[in-house]
Amino acid sequence: MDNNRLLCLEDFEEQAQKLLPISAWSYYSSGADNEETLRENREAYRRYWLKPRILRDVSVIDISTSVLGEKVDAPICISPTAFHCKAHSDGEIATCKGAADMNTLMTLSSISNKSLEEVAAARPNSPKWQNVYPLRHRDITKDIVKRAERAGFKAVVMSVDIPTGGFKRRAVRISGQTVFPDEYFGNLDRYINKTARSSPDIPQVDDPIDVSLGDPKSAWEYIDWLKTVTKLPIVLKGILTVEDAILAAEHNVQGILVSNHGGRQLDCVPAPIDALSNIVDAVGDKLEVYVDGGIRTGTDVLKALALGARAVFIGRPVLYGLACNGEEGVKAVLRILREELLRAMALTGCSRLSDISRSLLVSRSDRLSKL
Ligand code: LAC
Repeated sequence: MDNNRLLCLEDFEEQAQKLLPISAWSYYSSGADNEETLRENREAYRRYWLKPRILRDVSVIDISTSVLGEKVDAPICISPTAFHCKAHSDGEIATCKGAADMNTLMTLSSISNKSLEEVAAARPNSPKWQNVYPLRHRDITKDIVKRAERAGFKAVVMSVDIPTGGFKRRAVRISGQTVFPDEYFGNLDRYINKTARSSPDIPQVDDPIDVSLGDPKSAWEYIDWLKTVTKLPIVLKGILTVEDAILAAEHNVQGILVSNHGGRQLDCVPAPIDALSNIVDAVGDKLEVYVDGGIRTGTDVLKALALGARAVFIGRPVLYGLACNGEEGVKAVLRILREELLRAMALTGCSRLSDISRSLLVSRSDRLSKL
């Protein structure tokens, strides 16, 4: 398919499946266990329908906003996903350039192929956040955070839903593995003993698992500790319940990303879009609330904003854009989603993000009675 035929995010997904090696495709696309939640993340969006409103001035539509003070041209940012070089040889550098050219924010995965320093150098002034895990070796977590501060990243996004790895059964069946044993961790190799120690000050581990999974012992105290090592704002990624959202607010983090890790951790949990509004009601006045998981269209973005997300984050579609056309593919994915959002706003009578509210939504099963 030539790139002009890639008209929606699902086109990119279909094309990426054809282009990617099966090991990379199965790693990116799989969910945990029976993939109930992976499917639900998409299905849940279909249960919300939109109310079109007419004869409102939508000649100028402004979707620019900010996330923790970082200006972005649209409320559509990039979630951390691992190993971008499996999709394109320029890996996370291409992703960063694509996001920067579209004036939006990228979150770099802790387990990236390119180091955070290389990514930052690609576009020093673009908004970037750095993902970290609550590692058993806190001196390594601290070192990553300090490197991110030096490189100009503007927040730390801690994945808090991975005390153990989800089992991506489909990936195991297809390619016999869920991680790549030969993988290089551009960001983390310096902490793994297989390489020559570049400095006596750099902490090291023997097993790569120790830098790519959270410590199962980690608890809320880890967040309190993290706050003592950095002045950067902290976002917790992987919150799905009101109870944990309240705890996050009590621990004074600045943001939460409502997420089920793209359906890759615990199967049979609800879709983030269904968890969102109760969480916004509970803590939305105390911290910024974002959502990821299953967003593939501009109407999905509109629904998430209507339910109270300050911005949405996308994961897999970025990888599929990368696989199809590198940096240009990332830009195309972001552009399509943005254009779809603008169109959906025009057709629902919204010209500003503040016009978007829950009153735009009806539940699909109630659609006759509620319109
Ligand atoms: C995954 C881990 C790396 O979902 O976060 O594959």
